[in-house]
Amino acid sequence: MIRSASLLLATTLIAPGAPAYAGSASPSATRSAPLPLVPMPQSVTRGAGRFLLTDGATIGTAPGDAGAAAAARLLSVQVKAARGLVLRPMTGQGAVRFVRDPALAGDEAYRLDVTPRGIVIAASGDRGLVHGAATLAQLASPDGMIGHPAAIPAVSIADAPRFSWRGLMIDPSRHFQPIEFLYRTVDRMTAVKLNTLHLHLSDDQGWRFEVKRYPRLTEVGAWRTPPSTGGSPAAKVGGFYTQEQLKALVAYAAERGITIVPEIDLPGHAQALVAAYPEHGVFGDRPDVGHDWGVNPYLLNPDAKTVRFVEDILDEVMAVFPGTYIHLGGDEAVKDQWQRSPAVQAQMAAVGAKTENEMQSWLIDQFGAYLASKGRRLIGWDEILEGGVPPSASVMSWRGDKGAVDAANKGHDVVLSPAPNLYLDNLQSDLPDEPNGRIGIQTLEAVYGYDPMPAGIDADKARHVLGAQANAWSEYLVTPYQVDHNVYPRLGALAEVTWSPRSVRDFSSFARRIVPQMARWRRDGGEVADSAFAVAYALQGSRSAALRSGRLTVALKTQVPLGTIHYTTDGSPPTPRSRVYKAPIGVVSGTPIRAAAFLEGDMLAAPRPFETSRASLLSATPSDLVACPMGALGLRVPLTSEATANAPVFNINLFDTCTAWKDAPLANARSITVAVARLPRNYGLAHDFTALRGHFNVTPYGELVVTAGCPVKDDPKTPVIATFPLPDPAKSPTQFRFDAPVPAGMTDADLCFQFTSPLSDPFYAVERVQLSEGVR
Ligand code: ACM
Repeated sequence: MIRSASLLLATTLIAPGAPAYAGSASPSATRSAPLPLVPMPQSVTRGAGRFLLTDGATIGTAPGDAGAAAAARLLSVQVKAARGLVLRPMTGQGAVRFVRDPALAGDEAYRLDVTPRGIVIAASGDRGLVHGAATLAQLASPDGMIGHPAAIPAVSIADAPRFSWRGLMIDPSRHFQPIEFLYRTVDRMTAVKLNTLHLHLSDDQGWRFEVKRYPRLTEVGAWRTPPSTGGSPAAKVGGFYTQEQLKALVAYAAERGITIVPEIDLPGHAQALVAAYPEHGVFGDRPDVGHDWGVNPYLLNPDAKTVRFVEDILDEVMAVFPGTYIHLGGDEAVKDQWQRSPAVQAQMAAVGAKTENEMQSWLIDQFGAYLASKGRRLIGWDEILEGGVPPSASVMSWRGDKGAVDAANKGHDVVLSPAPNLYLDNLQSDLPDEPNGRIGIQTLEAVYGYDPMPAGIDADKARHVLGAQANAWSEYLVTPYQVDHNVYPRLGALAEVTWSPRSVRDFSSFARRIVPQMARWRRDGGEVADSAFAVAYALQGSRSAALRSGRLTVALKTQVPLGTIHYTTDGSPPTPRSRVYKAPIGVVSGTPIRAAAFLEGDMLAAPRPFETSRASLLSATPSDLVACPMGALGLRVPLTSEATANAPVFNINLFDTCTAWKDAPLANARSITVAVARLPRNYGLAHDFTALRGHFNVTPYGELVVTAGCPVKDDPKTPVIATFPLPDPAKSPTQFRFDAPVPAGMTDADLCFQFTSPLSDPFYAVERVQLSEGVR
């Protein structure tokens, strides 16, 4: 459990025993509810009556139609998983029939007709049949009545996607994920008609693609030593995918209408490659495989032998990934190594590149031409535009929408994957149990509200917008659980944004429809975050006022206003029969509050408890703490960079080790206990290095200085409450605590925790603060 020891706002991520989530039990939703479909189809016409899909029903396909037979098999797998019914594929007529209709334009378009007599799915292309199967599997599982016949309402659906690139990027380079995780990701994408899985297969921290000709890429490049927090070095971590594994995954994905786009990131983000083959780096030195997130200095050498080396790698990449697009990165390549290398400068002069950006474009062009000669196309992050690239290169715009607007207007095909909107490493709520990620919050509704046709693209260039994808960067997402948590259900929003016409998009309808889809995804045993539907608690008024009066007023709310909130005040779990929340609740200190939202009898999210004891009013956990200076760049990171699910997490500011508890109830405090954790300092800040704030340490390893009020420009007048010298990182545990009395006569103030450890030492974070009313 995350921070199970925390009191105020303590939460339980998954209640013991599987919670009875929505979609898990109740019979089909009422007639007024929207059809349980995500993404919403282009056109839906309701008919009269219904078709009862029962266990053992047949799925018929025409003799010799291999694509239809594959779709029939897929449908039977999906209906088994989502409804628990076994459907039987066969040649000939069936209760469900897959048929070809050449009049349906486009490989992905389909029609689905349900009448009381049977169900017909028609498409011209194989992918249309796959999408029709996904729609029928959703219609057959509106609720959690597993194993029960499904009454499917009569309906005519005519459907086709708005965009041809509907994607998800997974980053197994930063944290390697087992191949089984990728299969599950493909299944989850298929369910919502996404069609592009982008695998970020190389970066500074790990090379994940087996290259037979250059085995050191994985022998060396796939393994890194985690950063130190002062003790003895940790064992190496990593892994890679064999070509056989990836070929099998590619075939599995293709049967589900999904193309896998591999990414080899260059010329920056290439430290793992340079660690394996230093002769292809700029200075010939051999770095370790990186463990610093962010931007690192190692670049590929742009010389002829390295171009050939990369082309050899691309030959093997193309043999495994048959899709049109090969992604070659191009992002965040700080050019210092090229600037400082006489050899690279001489080569720039030889090829006529006046700037390092032009040199990068020259290099990208070499690979673009090579891929084109093999019938493939290059796609890269929007930095590839900087030195000018040929229109045949496609651009993935991540630095907002501007790159896409510029690129499309210049005639490049573009895919929108802007930060922060579609960067799923951003947290999705401010709940205290949200695991690792970037602290900027992108809610389900914010992802849903994104439109991949940004203003500024000329009307005659709109056809260059291929679509959009969400990116699950994984510096801070360590385990499959954590990746899943950040991806779902927000990926459902992306699916609707990229598939459905704008005219049918409606967030409140989507919020209802994503609930049964969350239940379907959960049936594979993986994680789906319930954050958007979970009850969050807000204390009204100050903690001091609550401590003085012995009473608290607490407001309850869910991020998405769906269903009705019910709560208890006796410690029992909430049910649909518990009291309905209407207005902020007044309780005596010590009363436990438990609340959850319910829709039609089903619980929408696991109930989180809210503790109201005096001790919890006097304590702060990481989610009560903000980075200082206020508003600084924040991350929520685990104790070690390899920590697994449910490990404690800390809100940190990359540029300073300063944390504040705003408006802390100091007036009531006679003593303070601060629990401290030592974390790795593993951030590649590149040119932002100069923005790091260091502090003068007066003992060898620095101190934790606790002040009432955060110092403004080191204002010496800020009262110091306590100073704790930090222990030797090499000889002390990574978690420890300090106690001190609080001087008498304090008033409430922002409590500021400043660590003054040298910048060469690990990073420190406050794990918990406990004020006490008596002296310890
Ligand atoms: C990126 O986020 N560096 C593409």
